[in-house]
Amino acid sequence: MTRTTDFLAPARLGRLALSNHLVMAPLTRNRAEADGTPTDLMVTHYAQRASAGLIIAEGSTPNPAGQTYPDITAIHTDRHAAGWRRVTDAVRAAGGRMFLQLQHGGRVSHPATTGLTPLAPSPVPLSETIFTPQGHQQAAVPRAMTTDDIRATIADFAAAARRAVDAGFEGVEVHSANGMLLHQFLADNTNRRTDGYGGSVDRRVRFAAEVTEAVADAIGADRVGIRISPASTVNGVLEEDTDGLYATLLDHLKGLDLAYLHLVRSDPATGWYRRIRADWPGMLIGNPDLTSLSTQAVTRATREMLAAGADLVALGRPFLANPDLVTRLRLGAPLNPVRDRYFMYVGGAAGYNDYPTLADQAKPPSSPSTVALDGARGA
Ligand SMILES: Cc1cc2nc3c(=O)[nH]c(=O)nc-3n(C[C@H](O)[C@H](O)[C@H](O)COP(=O)(O)O)c2cc1C
Repeated sequence: MTRTTDFLAPARLGRLALSNHLVMAPLTRNRAEADGTPTDLMVTHYAQRASAGLIIAEGSTPNPAGQTYPDITAIHTDRHAAGWRRVTDAVRAAGGRMFLQLQHGGRVSHPATTGLTPLAPSPVPLSETIFTPQGHQQAAVPRAMTTDDIRATIADFAAAARRAVDAGFEGVEVHSANGMLLHQFLADNTNRRTDGYGGSVDRRVRFAAEVTEAVADAIGADRVGIRISPASTVNGVLEEDTDGLYATLLDHLKGLDLAYLHLVRSDPATGWYRRIRADWPGMLIGNPDLTSLSTQAVTRATREMLAAGADLVALGRPFLANPDLVTRLRLGAPLNPVRDRYFMYVGGAAGYNDYPTLADQAKPPSSPSTVALDGARGA
C-alpha cells in the first residue's frame, strides 16, 4: 500500500469517509453542566471544529464513580445522551464526523466531586492534589475494586457505548491512557492485585481487554477505537516493562478487528512506536509529540507521523486554538497560540469559543465576537 503524507487528502476509517487525515484529539474542557450534560457552548465549540477529518470528543464518564473533575461530560443517562445529540447533530450538519471517548478516572477522582469513594485496582492514592469544586484537595485513598465492581464497570462501559451511538456518535474510543482507570490496571505501581486482574502482565491487561471486548460486542468492533500512552507517567502511573505490557495487550486486541489504535504523544523515533506500528495490523492514529505549535512545526510533525506509518494524525492544542486549523494548514497561515492555560479547564466561552478563524481576523474590529453571541457561562 502506498502511504500518503498529504494529510489534507481524503481518508477512510473503516466504513467512514473522512474529508482529511486530521483528527481532533480528545480534549477535556470542563464546560458541561454539573451533572455532565453537554452545554450550548459545547455545541458551538465542536461545530466550529467540524472540518477535522474526525473529532474524538473529550473523555466522558460511563458512570458516576468514573468522574474525574467538576463539569466534565458524562454518558450514562438519557439526559446526557440528549445533550450529546445536539452536539453530534451540529457537527454532522457542518460535515463533520465524531467519536466519543469513554473515560473512567479510577483514582483520578475525588469524593468532593462525586460524593463517592474513588474506585481503583488497588488502594494506592495519587500522590498529587486533585481539582474539586472546592479547589485543589489531597487525593483520597481509592477502594480496591471487587470482582463485582469490575463486572459492573465493564457493563457500564458497554451501556455508555450504546448510548453514544444512540446519541449520534459514529463510534467510541476506550480511554486506556494517561493514568486513567484502565491504565491503572496496566501499570505496576497502581495495580497490586493478586487475583485474576493483577500480577503477571497477562492478568494486568485483562481489564482493558475485557472492557474493549464488551464495548465492541455492544456496538460493533468497527465503531470502537482504543487509546494507549505507552511509557507515559501522567497521573503517576509507572510501567516496568512497557514493551512486554503493550505487546501482550495488543495480542488480546488484535483478534477484535477494532476501528483503530490511538497512541498518545507518539514520537516515531521511539522504539516502542516502531514496535507497535510493526505489530498492529489495523488502523493507527498517531498523536505527534509537538515541541512547537507553529504552522511549520505542526505540518512537519504531521507529515513525519504519516511517513512513519500512522494512518491518521491526531492534534490536540492546535485544534483547541484554531477552529479552522485545516484551512490554516492548507494555506500555510499562522496558527493562533493557545491563550491562558487557566481557560483550558475552567470558564465559559472565553478561551473556548472565541479563538478566531482567519475569516474573523479579516473582519473589521467592530464586528461582534463569538463570545458575545454565545454568552459566557462564567467560571
Ligand atoms: C486541555 C487538554 C485536555 C485534554 N483532555 C484529554 C482527554 O479528555 N482525553 C485524552 O485522552 N487526552 C486528553 N488530553 C491529551 C490530548 O488529547 C493530546 O494527547 C495532547 O494534548 C498532546 O497532543 P497536542 O500536542 O497535539 O496537544 C488533553 C490535553 C489537553 C491540553
